[in-house]
Amino acid sequence: MNRAKIISIGHYTPKKILTNTDLEKMVDTNDEWITQRTGIKERHIARIDEMPSDMGYEAAKEALEKANINPEDIDIILCGTVSGDYITPATACLIQAKLGAKNAFAFDISAACSGFIYGLSIAEKFILADNTKTVLVVATEKISNITNWEDRATCVLFGDGAGAAILKSSNDNSGIVASYLKTDGDLYDYIMLPGGGSKNPASLETVKNKQHYLTMKGNEVFKYAVTKMIESVEKVLVHSNWTKDDVNMIFPHQANIRIIDSIRKKINFDKDRVFININKYGNTSAATIPIAVSEALQSNKIKAGDKIVLVSFGSGFTWGALSLIW
Ligand code: ACO
Repeated sequence: MNRAKIISIGHYTPKKILTNTDLEKMVDTNDEWITQRTGIKERHIARIDEMPSDMGYEAAKEALEKANINPEDIDIILCGTVSGDYITPATACLIQAKLGAKNAFAFDISAACSGFIYGLSIAEKFILADNTKTVLVVATEKISNITNWEDRATCVLFGDGAGAAILKSSNDNSGIVASYLKTDGDLYDYIMLPGGGSKNPASLETVKNKQHYLTMKGNEVFKYAVTKMIESVEKVLVHSNWTKDDVNMIFPHQANIRIIDSIRKKINFDKDRVFININKYGNTSAATIPIAVSEALQSNKIKAGDKIVLVSFGSGFTWGALSLIW
């Protein structure tokens, strides 16, 4: 059976690390609160001149090198981001230019934290329609630029980084098995960036009112994230014809350790089958899952033939899960 398979994955995180102790000097918070409520100890912050397209380019370059593929061989570039270099053009186009991927068409996916899973699923459809295609899926975020550094309820949560995966057709049973993607746009204002779009174009007023920063109803988001990520895991297992005992490793979106723990307990998964690196990076939105998978490969936590589930939840609301055989 032909499947779309991730043949390589890379990631990039900026050099600068912002610890909880550093944050104590910026807002009224403390390491104990952040650690207990979120599981985050530190996050990486991009340089002022380091753009999402630069971080995405670095992650993509690593994935290309690992797969031994030339940029000219890429047919499609998809980029999950909500913090792209510009509103237009798409960050995917900038990454295409930086890579010199002259034969690719490129576009962005605005699905917040679910951007990577949505991207993999779209890539799969292109590959199943034409098994000669090579697709690059990038997730890159500079959330530090859209963070209100005076709001302790949000600024402790986020970080910057990028991940990138190359997908091709495979006929050895490995690759994407099933996906389950959902959206509820009625809840669009639970996490949002109110200013800068057509509804509230940038003006002195929007800047004064800090409308160019993320706002979030944290408690409500927490509850929905737990419920919808559990739903996603359960559905994708059914679609894959797997039980939870078949799964070697689950990669949840890294938004809050308590969200991950609640899901793990509800679906009754052992701790060592749930990948966690939120302590080092915080929530890098679309990039958390590819960074996690890339790190898991580097530390030999997944191997060929393993059954894997990726699950996410983000602004929109968007959520979903994807199952694959590595
Ligand atoms: N340091 C110290 N105290 C704080 C901080 C802080 N950084 N932030 C909030 N508090 C205080 C609050 O003011 C409140 O004080 P009060 O009781 O005197 O009013 C108290 O801590 C408890 O606040 P809660 O908001 O109830 O804390 P909670 O345990 O719910 O944790 C959090 C808040 C971490 C934001 C949690 O709700 C959460 O993780 N929500 C989900 C976030 C998420 O997943 N977002 C996804 C976004 S992804 C995307 O698409 C970009």
